Amino acid sequence: MSEASKKHLWWQKGVVYQIYPRSFMDSNADGIGDLPGITTKLEYVAHLGVDAVWLSPIFSSPMADFGYDVSDYTGIHPMFGTLEDFDAFVEKAHGLGLKVILDYVPNHTSDEHPWFVESRSSKVNPKRDWYVWRDAKPDGSVPNNWLSEFGGPAWSWDEKTGQYYYRAYHEKQPDLNWRNPEVREAMVDVLRFWMDRGVDGFRVDAVNHLAEDESFRDDPPNPDWDGKDSRHVYHRQIPIHTSNLPETHEAVADMRRTLDSHGGAERLLIGEVYLSGEELMAYYGVANDGFHMPTNMELVRAAWDARKISAYIEAYEAALPEGAWPNWVVGNHDNPRIASRVGKGQARVAAMLLLTLRGTPTIYYGDEIGMTDGDVPPELERDPVAKSVPGFGRDPERTPMQWNATEKNAGFSDSEPWLPVPEGDFATVEAQRGDSYSMLALHRKLLALRRAEDALSVGSYSPSEVRDDLLSYIRGHDGRRLLVALNFGEKDVDLDVPFRGRISLSTHLDREGEEVSDSVSLRPNEGVVVEES
Ligand code: GLC
Repeated sequence: MSEASKKHLWWQKGVVYQIYPRSFMDSNADGIGDLPGITTKLEYVAHLGVDAVWLSPIFSSPMADFGYDVSDYTGIHPMFGTLEDFDAFVEKAHGLGLKVILDYVPNHTSDEHPWFVESRSSKVNPKRDWYVWRDAKPDGSVPNNWLSEFGGPAWSWDEKTGQYYYRAYHEKQPDLNWRNPEVREAMVDVLRFWMDRGVDGFRVDAVNHLAEDESFRDDPPNPDWDGKDSRHVYHRQIPIHTSNLPETHEAVADMRRTLDSHGGAERLLIGEVYLSGEELMAYYGVANDGFHMPTNMELVRAAWDARKISAYIEAYEAALPEGAWPNWVVGNHDNPRIASRVGKGQARVAAMLLLTLRGTPTIYYGDEIGMTDGDVPPELERDPVAKSVPGFGRDPERTPMQWNATEKNAGFSDSEPWLPVPEGDFATVEAQRGDSYSMLALHRKLLALRRAEDALSVGSYSPSEVRDDLLSYIRGHDGRRLLVALNFGEKDVDLDVPFRGRISLSTHLDREGEEVSDSVSLRPNEGVVVEES
């Protein structure tokens, strides 16, 4: 390891692996994944070569939004196990060299959280102001035109106290009032609780919604909404009074201070942010006192086109503030899987892109074996969004991990899983483990290469040739250079290589060691990493 690379923190050099706990491994045959199940699979995760595990919510919850509706921030849902199971999970993860990142859901609680139960009990309850309450208009209608991300108005009527409460998502997810200092204090205490239990970082959910306009002004109409964009009716308006308000950044800085005083920069704060350019960069904070990494969702939404993606990368790199660390993601539990979006062949190119760009990558569980969106018929749909905004449910990307085809339910559970596993021939860990050309083998090799090459983990990024279906760039560190060349299309592509070298890796896994003098040819759907010799 060179002197320069020692200065980097684990999360700058590392790779994050996202687990959706309901779907990873079921240990008690109830059809739903759990903590002991995840713990039994940690060797697999470590063997992949990633550095951290991010768990989507495992807390007490009525599961109206599958755990993103928390009813006790410091309790584990019995479906997932106990606090002891959690401690055992953390201990084993740490023993295997894996950091642990938890989901932190500060924007809203469940309506069954004791805070909300108190808040809604009377208008004079001390917790009334912990949530966002508002009178109806004189005609009894909602206080203003604010919309919910899950479709329809963002206001729900409370019969008993005769007021509406605001909720950016489901009616069972009332928004906390982050203008209230008691709320802020109670919520940063949650961070302290988990850090004291050994947690290394947090992914902060739905952070753009933390603050709302104090005078409750209507959001303006969106002139670009064509009425057909059913994702969503939500986009009918521009949420200038309900999303991304300046006050949000103060709350983030509070969270960051809490982490900094509990282990310094070793504790990682990731923010879920679906923005670009300056609006995204603002989440790094003033002088990097905000999120270590506001999520960069460009590749989750991007049209799969070499020129466009190259332009995104350059715009992102150019917009990053001084000292801000980049990050990349191609899939998560809220968006269609990469292998379904771009196809099986291109999913390999996407993996090479994700794992060779400058910045911390996050891999979504199952993408390492090329899992595609599950086929979930309407009668088996579980996601509330599937009901409120038909066609946009998130169940397909949340189906169970496919461990093997020999046991029932893909080796995920002894009982009927909460979401179906595919029928017929499907990708599995077991089959791909024994195949040195598999997607799993590609991920392991990419991760090993990234670990071995400082140029890939912490080196500089310089764009190289981009034309038609070709995207190429050079990563460099301490005088060492690697060229990454990706073919986004179905035809052969030739490109010049600015140095003599050899192929360290091809997405097809069959050219390692091949000498390269001044040019290289890529086959359809092929990406290569060429190292300078
Ligand atoms: C985030 C989560 C999503 C959830 C929403 C409300 O976007 O990723 O799954 O439904 O917040 O908590």
